[in-house]
Amino acid sequence: MSVSTQNDVILQARGLAKRWGDVVALDGVDLTVHKGEVITVIGPSGGGKSTLLRCLNGLEVPDAGSVRVGGAPLRVGAPDIDALRRRVGMVFQAFHLFPHISVLDNLTLAPTVVCTEDRATATRHARELLDRVGLADKASARPGELSGGQQQRVAIARALAMRPDALLFDEPTSALDPETVGEVLGVIREIAADGTTMVIVTHEISFAADVSSRTVFMEHGRIIAEGATQPLLRTPTSDRLRAFLARMPTM
Ligand SMILES: Nc1ncnc2c1ncn2[C@@H]1O[C@H](COP(=O)(O)OP(=O)(O)O)[C@@H](O)[C@H]1O
Ligand SMILES: [Mg+2]
Repeated sequence: MSVSTQNDVILQARGLAKRWGDVVALDGVDLTVHKGEVITVIGPSGGGKSTLLRCLNGLEVPDAGSVRVGGAPLRVGAPDIDALRRRVGMVFQAFHLFPHISVLDNLTLAPTVVCTEDRATATRHARELLDRVGLADKASARPGELSGGQQQRVAIARALAMRPDALLFDEPTSALDPETVGEVLGVIREIAADGTTMVIVTHEISFAADVSSRTVFMEHGRIIAEGATQPLLRTPTSDRLRAFLARMPTM
């Protein structure tokens, strides 16, 4: 990674802690995401990966610690909370598209209603984004008419329609049929190559290896290992990361 300064910090989590009853989801997590960085988060199920992402865009409120978006604290009840949250887009495992409206309307709804972008601009941008994810011909389709991989590509385009500063992906291919995983990973790769700042939770280790500059390994709510992706995955120095990778299908 090139030399970075405080100015190019997009997201900063400090000392994040979260528990549900006796279950510790996050146990003191620090993470700084710089502009243009692509970070993958890996680790066993239940390790706190989703909770971390949800805290980063304010879907979850940590018990302790702080999140900053472009330097501004993400605080419940703060007047700018909605505006800050909109700067951090999220793509979920299960798409969450609006089923009753067209693909195009899925992309223009929030920009026109929430961000009061004018319809012509929002529509032009939406069509550009659909083209970018290879779905220009599906603008008037309903989500239910599309394959899982196509729906996830729409979800990615919809997140980009908000012109976010960063995009968070929570296992974007885990709910897909194996034959459509590749097309979604391909789109994420292209968006990464365009310089979009991203944090991606994934079980696709070979994808993590080629898309991200930095990888974070989480277990039991903590970051156990992190560093430049290639050396971290090729020659892991953490025993627990080595054991985790040994259980994964390919590398
Ligand atoms: N809403 C919730 N209520 C109760 N427990 C939760 C909730 N969300 C997550 N957890 C628990 O917190 C831990 C971390 O979960 P999660 O962040 O989803 O991990 P991961 O995404 O790495 O699988 C798990 O033990 C999970 O069961
Ligand atoms: Mg999860």
